[in-house]
Amino acid sequence: MSDPVWTEIDRYVTDLLAPHDEGLEAALRASVEAGLPQIQVSPPQGKLLQLLAQVRGAKSILELGTLGGYSTIWLARALPPGGRVVTVEADPRYAEVARASIERAGVGELVELRVGPALEVLPDLAAEEAGPFDLTFIDADKVNTPEYFAWALDHSASGGLIIADNVVRGGTLANPDSDDPNARAQRRLHEMLATEPRVSATTIQTVGSKGYDGFTLAMIR
Ligand SMILES: C[S@@+](CC[C@H](N)C(=O)[O-])C[C@H]1O[C@@H](n2cnc3c(N)ncnc32)[C@H](O)[C@@H]1O
Repeated sequence: MSDPVWTEIDRYVTDLLAPHDEGLEAALRASVEAGLPQIQVSPPQGKLLQLLAQVRGAKSILELGTLGGYSTIWLARALPPGGRVVTVEADPRYAEVARASIERAGVGELVELRVGPALEVLPDLAAEEAGPFDLTFIDADKVNTPEYFAWALDHSASGGLIIADNVVRGGTLANPDSDDPNARAQRRLHEMLATEPRVSATTIQTVGSKGYDGFTLAMIR
């Protein structure tokens, strides 16, 4: 599902409100040149992540799913002095591209990139007492979003935010008969949220250059 006007509006908003500097531009270029899938957040979405981190005053950020480091750079630039982003990427080749782009963007000192499947890395982070996190951005393999959310819930600061991307999945979120495991995982996430007293949450549908999808935003009470 797509409409050319969604892309046109994204471009308009990007030019005026979320323009790229050389660091972000170079990160996208490196990602294309290395043949990474072009599935990073759009510029307006990157700006939204940055704004949410700033509104929250997030000092400690966790990201699951680094890809080429594009969203990582947006998030790192929201940090106050002394803050850090821990970002987790399963694919070592993607992580290599991300590492170079993060350095080039001048935020290398603020970012700790961990390579490995998130379900294996998260217990290490827990053992190291890397949290609590003020903001967690869940953007890795979608089938495990509920597991990542549950972990984030246990390792978030009070008032912290958890954002899970790609939950609407072209509209399959509301289809109880969908046999798509990714869509079923997003339904599990929503069922979990509905009965979880520790969070207040909502899901927003989005259209844009990345098509039709949506994200869930939850705040720890
Ligand atoms: C949608 S992309 C992330 C995009 C990135 N957040 C951005 O907007 O710039 C999803 C990433 O998650 C990674 N991934 C997939 N399964 C994973 C897992 N089990 N643990 C960690 N990362 C994983 C993929 O390799 C891919 O790079």
